[in-house]
Amino acid sequence: MSARLLGKVALVTGAASGIGAATARLFAAHGAHVFGLDRNPSPERADNPAHLIADVTDAESIGVAVARILGQHGRIDVLVNNAGADVFSEPLSLSDADWERCLSLNLKGAWNMARAVLPSMLEQGAGSIVNIASVHGHKIIPGAFPYPVAKHGLIGLTRSLGIEYAARGIRVNSISPGLILVPRIEAWFASQPDPEAARRVQTELLPPKRIGTPEEVAHTALFLASDEARFINATDILIDGGRSQLYHE
Ligand code: NAI
Repeated sequence: MSARLLGKVALVTGAASGIGAATARLFAAHGAHVFGLDRNPSPERADNPAHLIADVTDAESIGVAVARILGQHGRIDVLVNNAGADVFSEPLSLSDADWERCLSLNLKGAWNMARAVLPSMLEQGAGSIVNIASVHGHKIIPGAFPYPVAKHGLIGLTRSLGIEYAARGIRVNSISPGLILVPRIEAWFASQPDPEAARRVQTELLPPKRIGTPEEVAHTALFLASDEARFINATDILIDGGRSQLYHE
């Protein structure tokens, strides 16, 4: 395996599970010094020194985590803003607290992280930020409000920051996954009255007739984080097997 991130220092949020865990593993396999940041402990080792416990909605705990990495390595080359969660409701049934929870995690969390990391990236004149958005940032599924509001905003944050700092060596891009088979999706299938039927329905909706894997998203993040993508900035890559291009389902 070629070391496409050799010597780079990478910070991946939401690294305790799913897409974030797969991304942290793949980046490490490609030679990066990877720090995971999550509000939950590392799934592999409770005492993993490269797994920082912090909440992306809490600027103070982020500041401590970022200072620790900078103290150790003096730089952060790659930030993957992956921490996020579904908040789905019928719009008028949504409480203010759930609106706040959705936007503060899925949108403001990425800004909190970028704001903490950008000064050191600007100082070194280089850096790549990859935001994990969603197909919900492109298309609307009724009843999933306000998650798509946050994910559209995250794509807006990507474009906006990408333009603001392009001339100073920073690239900001996003990835929009469709359905990806992570443990919480497996748990959702298992909770259905007929788990296999639920899995079949979701699988059939996807043009390749299979569900995406966390590793497939991680490989796209690896490309965007690496110097191979050095002229790619302020854009979004959909990784949904083509489903969002279908007019009829
Ligand atoms: P997951 O639930 O497996 O992992 C999310 C991780 O984020 C967890 O480890 C969780 O502890 C962490 N996290 C949540 N809130 C946090 C906070 N406030 N501070 C720090 N860490 C926090 O979910 P998954 O599926 O891997 O999702 C990762 C990203 O991908 C999310 O942004 C999600 O919106 C996005 N996504 C996922 C899709 C899927 O089908 N799995 C599809 C489209 C987008």
